[in-house]
Amino acid sequence: MDPDASIDARIDDLHLDLLACLSRVYGAAAAPAVADRLVALARRTHAARPADLRALDERRLAAPDWFQRPGMLGYAAYADRFGGTLAGVGERAAYLRDLGVGYLHLMPLLRPRPDPNDGGYAVMDYRSVRPDLGTTDDLRALTTALREHGISLCLDLVLNHVAREHAWAVAARAGEQRYRDYFYVFPDREMPDAFEATLPEVFPDLAPGSFTHDDAVGGWVWTTFNDYQWDVNWANPDVLCEYAEVVCFLANLGVEVLRLDAIAFLWKRLGTDSQNQPEVHDLTRALRIVARIACPALLFKAEAIVGPTQLPAYLGVGEHAGRVSDLAYHNSLMVQVWSMLASGEVGLATLALQQLPQPPATTAWVTYLRCHDDIGWAIDDTDAWRAGLDGAAHRRFLSDWYAGSFPGSWARGLVFEENAATGDRRISGSLASLAGLEAGDPHAVDRILLAHAVVLAFGGLPVLWMGDELGLPNDPHWAEDPAHAPDNRWVHRPVMPWPATDPHGVRARLRHLVETRGSLPHLHAATPTEVWDPRDPGVLLVVRRHATGPLLAAFNMTDQPRRVDADVLHWLGLHVPGLRDALTGAAPPLEHGSVPLAPYSAAWLMAH
Ligand code: GLC
Repeated sequence: MDPDASIDARIDDLHLDLLACLSRVYGAAAAPAVADRLVALARRTHAARPADLRALDERRLAAPDWFQRPGMLGYAAYADRFGGTLAGVGERAAYLRDLGVGYLHLMPLLRPRPDPNDGGYAVMDYRSVRPDLGTTDDLRALTTALREHGISLCLDLVLNHVAREHAWAVAARAGEQRYRDYFYVFPDREMPDAFEATLPEVFPDLAPGSFTHDDAVGGWVWTTFNDYQWDVNWANPDVLCEYAEVVCFLANLGVEVLRLDAIAFLWKRLGTDSQNQPEVHDLTRALRIVARIACPALLFKAEAIVGPTQLPAYLGVGEHAGRVSDLAYHNSLMVQVWSMLASGEVGLATLALQQLPQPPATTAWVTYLRCHDDIGWAIDDTDAWRAGLDGAAHRRFLSDWYAGSFPGSWARGLVFEENAATGDRRISGSLASLAGLEAGDPHAVDRILLAHAVVLAFGGLPVLWMGDELGLPNDPHWAEDPAHAPDNRWVHRPVMPWPATDPHGVRARLRHLVETRGSLPHLHAATPTEVWDPRDPGVLLVVRRHATGPLLAAFNMTDQPRRVDADVLHWLGLHVPGLRDALTGAAPPLEHGSVPLAPYSAAWLMAH
């Protein structure tokens, strides 16, 4: 089929859907003109799309599950801290491949405002690269080089806010009405006060409140995050069209996945917390339609660090199923892994994870243990109550445990953004330091591997955070850079210590887990995940059903020997002579029909 015919077919397919989304957001009268602008943009983008990327589109359309496969592993890093420059990152491709990485998320690298810039999340130009990292040509060269190594590049699309120095904000401050309308500007405190009555504070310490007075613009500007990050107004269709252009621009540089930063905050509604509003999903869907038409290889990854009840919507529920983001962070799993490790109990995690629906079959969770951000204890009060716990008390326990202040804690984290009003305390710290390595706990390395075994078996696309494969502890020098000193998330954003040695043997054991995973068809993201009721309160049971038979992944979250009870094997038809633990490649020893589990160990059991 000639390329233009293929795009016509996609437009025919998706045009009505686009109109429907836009009508829900902007009203039926405004929608057709916006749809026309977006379709014209998609055509222009496709016409300009380089031949290698059109070929990629064809490959992805023919094998859309590439990111769901058990052999897929992600890695996330700051370009400068990992490779120095974009070219330097390219030179590290072999290191990533050796680890099994097929997907690389580089932290924000489009031109930010000068420091402070929230680690690059305050972008002043979406069409150029941070000058010390390289140029857009270097970015194009990097995506090409990585693809030759079988690695897809993911970049952030910061779409809730721009830097105060972005051209739109500059024009707004200069009084241009068109650009004032790109932001939320209020002449006095009336509306900000009304909104703040129900808005939670994201950075209560760093940047209290959600509005900042700006003299040049002559009013209060919505700033959910830092005062220099101006929220854009998605109720203005021009804003959608601007971001659609950025999406197309990045896709045509060879970026394969866009991480939709802080997506939950996109739509504001008085009387609510202005998160997870229905319009967010329609807007994502509209952007995705543009991408599906123009550059179908492109995927979206939602960064919605929200409570478990809101999470499934980011992969799509009901009418949106499979039509919003392709990937979304499984924040709930991440929190529950840390909760299980601290408490040695799997009851709450089991209940919480059982509540979540299976994601649409064309999508995948991003499963992870750490990222560049703090950990917020997104534990639902009802889940806690059903597990016999008090939600607030358990969250307090987790903060105390991971800050290292709870008696017996092996964790060495820092409290991030304590909220005096709510008592909420989030936690910063590297995986290794939170898991006990810094404190010298004898179980720390096993704990690190166990946690990885969970996120590798659970279902989704597992993403490692740079340095965790080496067990890097907290960076003791994090506060020496004055731009970083007020924000202790920098404690777990180290510089990669090349040559990368493996002093604790974490990387070697992790590679084994990753390789084993790659050989197990059960672990394809489209394969349903079942969390079974625990027999032993310290052993998490996860079942992955596959046509060749089930895989039972069992995780001992305690420092004591535990077991997988015989009845579980029986119900799954795994009580057979051929029973094998994929992680050891051998038949597990049986004790009265049960499989013993050493402290902090995992078994991936299958019948042959
Ligand atoms: C996301 C980023 C975080 C940043 C925030 C504002 O949550 O992960 O680092 O501070 O968005 O852009």
